Amino acid sequence: MKAQLIRRYGKNEKVIINEVAMPIVGDNDVLVAIKAASVNPVDFKTRNGMTKGIMKIAFPMTMGNDFAGEVTAVGAQVTQFKLGDRVYGRPRTTRTGTYAEYIAVNEAELALMPTNLSFEEAASIPLVGLTSYQALTEQLNIQAGDKLFIPSGAGGVGTIAIQIAHLLGARVATTASEKSMATLAPFNPEVVIDYRKQDFSEVLHDYDAIYDTRGGDDLVKSVKILAPHKAVATVAGMPDRKWAQAAKLPLSKQLMIGAMSRKATQAAKKAQAEYKFFFMRPSGEQLAQLTTWLEAGKIVPVIDRVFDFADAQAALDYVEAGHAHGKVIIKIN
Ligand SMILES: NC(=O)c1ccc[n+]([C@@H]2O[C@H](COP(=O)([O-])OP(=O)(O)OC[C@H]3O[C@@H](n4cnc5c(N)ncnc54)[C@H](OP(=O)(O)O)[C@@H]3O)[C@@H](O)[C@H]2O)c1
Repeated sequence: MKAQLIRRYGKNEKVIINEVAMPIVGDNDVLVAIKAASVNPVDFKTRNGMTKGIMKIAFPMTMGNDFAGEVTAVGAQVTQFKLGDRVYGRPRTTRTGTYAEYIAVNEAELALMPTNLSFEEAASIPLVGLTSYQALTEQLNIQAGDKLFIPSGAGGVGTIAIQIAHLLGARVATTASEKSMATLAPFNPEVVIDYRKQDFSEVLHDYDAIYDTRGGDDLVKSVKILAPHKAVATVAGMPDRKWAQAAKLPLSKQLMIGAMSRKATQAAKKAQAEYKFFFMRPSGEQLAQLTTWLEAGKIVPVIDRVFDFADAQAALDYVEAGHAHGKVIIKIN
């Protein structure tokens, strides 16, 4: 089968199409002919070597972390899926590689894709949808009426996160530039701050929660907008020592990771806020919940551009430039 892969770490490393072996289908696995994959910042962050310390990679590595496609084979123990089912998913990090014609996925990491969506639309959901669902329900425990700040509302994460937050009853503030306002308009956040004209940290006060999608200096200053004893859940900042301990990393790595996130964790401490770094995890069950919402039209996919399989590098470059509106998709077959 064909796959878009990288041979080594490096910012200048380009994806190339190559023939690779078909995936091995275990007893609990489903073999999927991938029709579309989405591009996520983790794709180029991994290529750039940013996950080196916490994730082992074997090269050549097929790129890509989520997909939609059609079931072409099932393992002996599979109970939930059959040939021809249209499915989508985000496989576990040791079995990624969705810029490819086929993938074998444990059935617990799959769900039937919404019947009202195209493969391209469905592929836009798994990684950002699951991350946002987990951030808002498990990490931040968002309740109706909560004032929630989600920066970069027009991005891949932001567009789905705002919709899920509204379903949970939150009042959302976000940031975007002038050219992103049209993307945000249908979702009608309570507050939209043009980050090129105003500093959100001087406008927002007494927030109940932050779902941080920016990291860096934006994360550090964002904690000031929280009321005391609230939390920031970050998917873009650095992991902290607590996360490294829970991941059972060696003490030397725990200390190194603790040092890397110190600026943000200290800012959080000063603001009497809890700092929660997390990596999303695959879940077919939670994806099925998203399917229900998508089929009911309670949330909708937001697609910026669709690239051909041969143009995967251009798709990556487009997302890496940092101004996608919604999701960028690679059409595979
Ligand atoms: N830990 C995890 O499990 C996990 C899971 C998912 C995502 N993530 C991380 O979450 C982050 C966001 O991902 P994403 O897919 O949403 O990225 P994305 O789609 O590439 O984000 C693009 C958006 O960022 C906005 N933006 C750019 N500069 C900005 C600024 N200075 N202030 C506010 N907004 C700005 C852009 O709006 P304009 O065009 O208007 O500038 C654009 O809409 C990434 O770092 C990603 O790695 C982590």
